Amino acid sequence: MNIEKDIAKVLVSEEEIKEICARLGKQISEDYKDKKLLLVSVLKGAVVFMADIMRNITCDCQIDFMAVSSYSGTKTTGVVKFKKDLDINPDGMDILLVEDILDSGVTLAYLKNLLFDRNAASIKVCAFLDKPANRRADIKADYVGKEVPDEFVVGYGLDYDEKYRNLPFVGVLDESVYSDK
Ligand code: IMP
Ligand code: MG
Repeated sequence: MNIEKDIAKVLVSEEEIKEICARLGKQISEDYKDKKLLLVSVLKGAVVFMADIMRNITCDCQIDFMAVSSYSGTKTTGVVKFKKDLDINPDGMDILLVEDILDSGVTLAYLKNLLFDRNAASIKVCAFLDKPANRRADIKADYVGKEVPDEFVVGYGLDYDEKYRNLPFVGVLDESVYSDK
């Protein structure tokens, strides 16, 4: 069964994704050329973006992963569950949190606080998508790929109930997929 039939419209095409990663990678490479960059990706949604953005970064960097979850279906529960910690000690590192989407901001606010307590030299946020309409926490991304409207999106790592992560573009999920749930 082809999963593309569940997509109402494409929001970020493969071509635009490439442009976004090139633009952000260039900017990050300039900003971090004299720093100790540690890219921290938030599992699982951000892995596809992480793989693209790291290959557009030309300065020294290390990568690591954290896992949290706050979603059930298309709704945030507002409570962040901590599932996997860093392997690398962030003490003295310049951390750039790599996220798929900044929505309510609850997840990133939680992670930023957690990492500040561990003596990181700096902590910034790079979000592939930004959905400002839903913001609840006082947080802004330092690098943003694209601002999106308040719609539930999937693809390019983003899921609905663990599906659609493998779509190579970002699309709006047809409401019929989740309206009867
Ligand atoms: P926040 O804590 O509300 O900012 O949500 C952060 C996480 O919720 C993101 O990293 C995504 O994994 C997930 N999320 C938020 N909006 C969407 C969406 O439109 N589609 C899929 N996942 C989303
Ligand atoms: Mg995520």
